[in-house]
Amino acid sequence: MKHTAVKGMHDILPPDSARWAVLEAKARHVFSRCGYAEIRTPIVEKTPLFLRSVGEQTDMVQKEMYSFVDQGDEALTLRPEGTAAVVRAYTQHGVYQQDQVAKYFYAGPYFRRERPQKGRYRQFHQLGVELFGAAHSFADAEVMAMLMRFLEAVGVRDVRLEVNSLGCKQCRPKYYDTMREFLASVAEQLCENCTNRMATNPMRLFDCKNTQCQTALTEAPTVQDYWCGECGEHFDQVGAGLDALGVTYWTNHRIVRGLDYYVRTAFEVVTHDLGAQSALCGGGRYDGLVKSLGGPDVPGIGFGLGIERLLLLLEQQGASLVTQEATNIYVAALGDDARVAMLPVMDELRRAGLRVQWDFDGRSLKAQMKRADRAEATHTVIVGESELADGKVIIRNMSTKAQDDVVLAKVVDFFT
Ligand code: HAM
Repeated sequence: MKHTAVKGMHDILPPDSARWAVLEAKARHVFSRCGYAEIRTPIVEKTPLFLRSVGEQTDMVQKEMYSFVDQGDEALTLRPEGTAAVVRAYTQHGVYQQDQVAKYFYAGPYFRRERPQKGRYRQFHQLGVELFGAAHSFADAEVMAMLMRFLEAVGVRDVRLEVNSLGCKQCRPKYYDTMREFLASVAEQLCENCTNRMATNPMRLFDCKNTQCQTALTEAPTVQDYWCGECGEHFDQVGAGLDALGVTYWTNHRIVRGLDYYVRTAFEVVTHDLGAQSALCGGGRYDGLVKSLGGPDVPGIGFGLGIERLLLLLEQQGASLVTQEATNIYVAALGDDARVAMLPVMDELRRAGLRVQWDFDGRSLKAQMKRADRAEATHTVIVGESELADGKVIIRNMSTKAQDDVVLAKVVDFFT
């Protein structure tokens, strides 16, 4: 029987894996310049953590979680998102006792049992950040600016940062009530899914892909008309911060998030180049979440960016993330004596920081040259019995085809 990976879950093989590594390294670089440090949390958490944070009525909790009961009768879930676990860790370790402000970034796999398609998987990866202890709108602006600087650094084009405020505990109920009233007036035109969602999260209807639902929502009230004074002021200040930082953004009062913990700022980076999976990144403010999960009343804000979607987009836009190392050496040694003589030379070249490969099995020169081509070698070091007897090697430049005779003891000097 041939075994295959689980549907919607993928292996990442070379040369693709190199693109992942570059992306993660760039994120590390850009995020650390704003003072973020890496956090790694377990892949499995206790199920109630997600029920309490993401929200019991969300699609994620109701339909998409990989949950199971372990041998010790504990209800566990493969993490569907990153924020809840980072909040748990921040609280569990009492990080706030020294300083409420903490800045974390993370990169890793997440699991949602969605219908797989291009850009949507059951195991996918996010690059994320969480900032605790900063209530000021400048924090929102800086987090979004950092995200956009990262996207610039990896060379992505034609993406839009869309920003909204979802209001707060004080003003959102009023908006929800008005929205429900409106929805009741267009109820016959709504799909079954929207009808079910109306009561729990009427804003989520803006996310429905059904064109009839979207037509029905043309005249729907939007959140900004219901913001309290503080929410309005916060939103304006976020905009002022983004302007000051030179970040282009679009206000979109129909942005909703699929998770329940957001208050005020909610944002997405979207693209038209990924078909149905237009959201490259989503994030927002979640003041109150730390407290609701048993921690202190510390505000929070962050985002999660889909690595697969970003890589797809970069590929589509023809951006090459991986720059080949300048020197890539292939050693074609013929005969056991030559092979043994080359072992310390290869070791020294690698210790000098060069990439060196060779043929373990010592095939014919023709076969080894073929391998050198396949390895995209820039240089091949050829050494047979006669070269060895003369204490030298031939170094062939694979693009110009020029060949140099080099003394064995000087091979490392030649490349360094
Ligand atoms: P989210 O919007 O659910 O937010 O996910 C963030 C990003 O993860 C999406 O924009 C998308 O690029 C990617 N993503 C989500 N689901 C899939 C999937 N099935 N396949 C491929 N990519 C996917 C969160 O998860 C929040 N925790 C973000 C956050 C952090 N908010 C505050 N802090």
